Amino acid sequence: MLLVYPISAMATPTDPVDIAVEVLREGGLVALPTETVYGLAADADNELAVRRIFAVKGRPQSHPLIVHLPDASALGAWAAEVPDAAKKLVAAFWPGPLTLVLKKHPRVLDVVTGGQDTVALRVPSHPLAQKVLRAFGGGVAAPSANRFGRVSPTTAEHVRADLGDDVDYVLDGGPAQIGLESTIVDLSRGAPALLRPGGLAVEEIERVLGVPVPPRASTEVRAPGMLASHYAPRAGVWLAEAYDVHQRLGALMGTGQKIAVIAPRGTQVPAGVALLEVPTDAAGFARTLYRTLREVDEQGFDVCVAVLPPSEGLGLAVRDRLRRAAAPRDFQA
Ligand code: TXA
Ligand code: MG
Repeated sequence: MLLVYPISAMATPTDPVDIAVEVLREGGLVALPTETVYGLAADADNELAVRRIFAVKGRPQSHPLIVHLPDASALGAWAAEVPDAAKKLVAAFWPGPLTLVLKKHPRVLDVVTGGQDTVALRVPSHPLAQKVLRAFGGGVAAPSANRFGRVSPTTAEHVRADLGDDVDYVLDGGPAQIGLESTIVDLSRGAPALLRPGGLAVEEIERVLGVPVPPRASTEVRAPGMLASHYAPRAGVWLAEAYDVHQRLGALMGTGQKIAVIAPRGTQVPAGVALLEVPTDAAGFARTLYRTLREVDEQGFDVCVAVLPPSEGLGLAVRDRLRRAAAPRDFQA
């Protein structure tokens, strides 16, 4: 691992976790492994450091960031109110792939929340993220460690390939176990709403709360994951249900394009078309989705046809990400 951030401490730490903590304290940017995707982390109380996240990602300032905490005991320092529903979800799912949007504590910087009166909070479970957050002590603002609009990184290699020297330190925690972003639930306006399906199935959340958690479509595009086009590879993406993949392919074959199909193992594809296999279960598809979208570009395909999984469990999040990967690209900043 290459350390490019100049550490001013007398003794340079050698343990990767200590280095990451030191870089955060100095106002630098750390690629932090989490169980969902790698985050581009900065001290959430350091305005300049947080501004650098936006600069490096090329992300509009109005799009808020998630603050990562070591455990739920820090909630009171970041949220002005912790409703009962939040307490239930925290008890059931933290640490884990669930982000809660709550009314923000006055101390939370506007640069983190995009000037909104709410803040998104999450306690990740990855052991290295846990170690860094505990040793650091404060909150860590971290979007996914990719350029705005592109596919999120699920390995340290992806981060290095995307961000190069723009990130001061990359902490390698191996491949992300869940493989797509946390589920985001808004509890700041009374009835719970699903802002982004993700690594925790909404059915699980509804089971704990005992009420439905309907998706909320935002007309004000203020959250990157809510943009129509996002999580996109360079190649064109077409969607298919399992039964109409051959019809889709029929329309693309003969156009001279190099075509890949993203589909479960065993799917039959015509000669001249490559099959990029994904596991048949939704959690397996989620874990390999972003890696597979990267392979589409790395292997030089012009276009891929992705077969959507059923929408139960993590299938909902996989479908959401594939829809955004396939959306018209002119929405992108
Ligand atoms: O799994 C994850 O959530 C990863 C890892 C690194 O923790 N992080 C992540 O961050 O996906 P990012 O910036 O790519 O997505 C953050 C999302 C935004 O798309 C937005 O939907 C939501 O967090 N968000 C943040 N603050 C919010 C707020 N105050 N109100 C509504 N949504 C907010
Ligand atoms: Mg992101």
